[in-house]
Amino acid sequence: MDGKIQLAAANSSACGEASHHQRILEMFPFPVAGQIILAIIALIIWRFHRCKWFIDIHEDVQKDVTSAQHQTVEIDELENFHLDSSEPPKFRPFKPKYHLTMGLETLGCSDFLIFDKTYPERLKIRRSLAQQHPEDVIGIISDSDARIRLAVEELYSHLFKIYLPARYPSIFKTTRDKTDHINSVENLITGSIIPADAESISLHVALKIISENIDEDFFILLPHKTDEDTPGDVVYVLEAYSACFPSGFQPRDKIGKRLADIHRPVPKYKEKLQKSMDRFFARLEAGRLVKRINWAITVDEELYSNFDKSGPAFEGTLKKMTMKDLDLNKTFLRSERQTLHRLPASDAIVFAFHTYLYPIQDIKAEGSGEDLALAIDGLQSGSVPEIFTYKNGEKWADAVKQYLRS
Ligand code: HEM
Repeated sequence: MDGKIQLAAANSSACGEASHHQRILEMFPFPVAGQIILAIIALIIWRFHRCKWFIDIHEDVQKDVTSAQHQTVEIDELENFHLDSSEPPKFRPFKPKYHLTMGLETLGCSDFLIFDKTYPERLKIRRSLAQQHPEDVIGIISDSDARIRLAVEELYSHLFKIYLPARYPSIFKTTRDKTDHINSVENLITGSIIPADAESISLHVALKIISENIDEDFFILLPHKTDEDTPGDVVYVLEAYSACFPSGFQPRDKIGKRLADIHRPVPKYKEKLQKSMDRFFARLEAGRLVKRINWAITVDEELYSNFDKSGPAFEGTLKKMTMKDLDLNKTFLRSERQTLHRLPASDAIVFAFHTYLYPIQDIKAEGSGEDLALAIDGLQSGSVPEIFTYKNGEKWADAVKQYLRS
């Protein structure tokens, strides 16, 4: 569409150019033969320009088509979506035994992000965290690295130009300039106007805009060549993030690290996950979206959990709680809906997640208490019993099970 409009505009300006040449001819007092020669020269010049315009325009159209081929995955509008009445999805991913597996499922590209009625409230939390803990919320390993810039710009424009206005037009409304290019996006809930591209803003600002307009945390990883024997001879390194609600880890400790080092505290990662994950990362194709859902129990925090919790768990310094110690207003089943996809131009992989907190009282009230209590025991009877310690089970497990069964 952009291409067509540019073509029409260029044609009309080409016509305007021809009559301009004609007027010049009329001004010259040459004999007829001279005028004919001049007219031929003018025609040649005009054809040359027109031809060049055509090539330029053709190239623009080609560029649009190429980028469209890369970017235009069909995104369907979510039908009958009303933010005010959209309840958060209820994920109950716990199983009788915890097995450390990738547990990935393929998703349709339209299902990338889920918005629900908690969005306005949670954006306020996100904005205040960006003010209080700027270095925790946004991280970039290098502002001047062209690959990182490309990856952030690519994610940014996919979100604001393509995905969000198509999927949630009642929240994100695009504005076009005179040449029909999308130049800004209005967040109809907050009233803020967002640039549609990140080309003219710093990477920090771009990630901050993402973080303050989308209730999702984003981690951008890029492949790096290695001599080691890894699939595709590459390793993936965390280059940039916008993350308000990481659970029990600190993204600023993870930036610049490879996938395997990021997961260092996860027991048996090397033995059980590393190979398949490296293979998966090497093979993930652009246009494919996958998800996994994890779960944990938290007893003394709400959404903000930017702390390294693995240390005290493994040092065994956590104080065991009794049921009486439980603050039910701060005891949650915490679940992340995580997705992964590759950005075609930069080759980056985006790991994104949305954090859901389900009050433990609700789990009990809906009748899932016994299943969750069994799953808590199942942390110790699955493929990696150490995961119980990793998830701080020594501290809360008995208290929470007792509550769920009471
Ligand atoms: C196929 C993709 C992935 C799989 C299967 C996976 C798997 C896991 C698992 C099993 C855990 C233990 C806790 C849990 O049950 O969730 C974990 C923790 C974690 N994952 Fe991943 N992960 C994936 C991708 C990523 C990526 C791309 C990042 C990049 C930032 C990441 C960052 C983390 C972090 C920071 C932790 C916590 C580690 C800590 O305690 O310090 N994961 N992951």
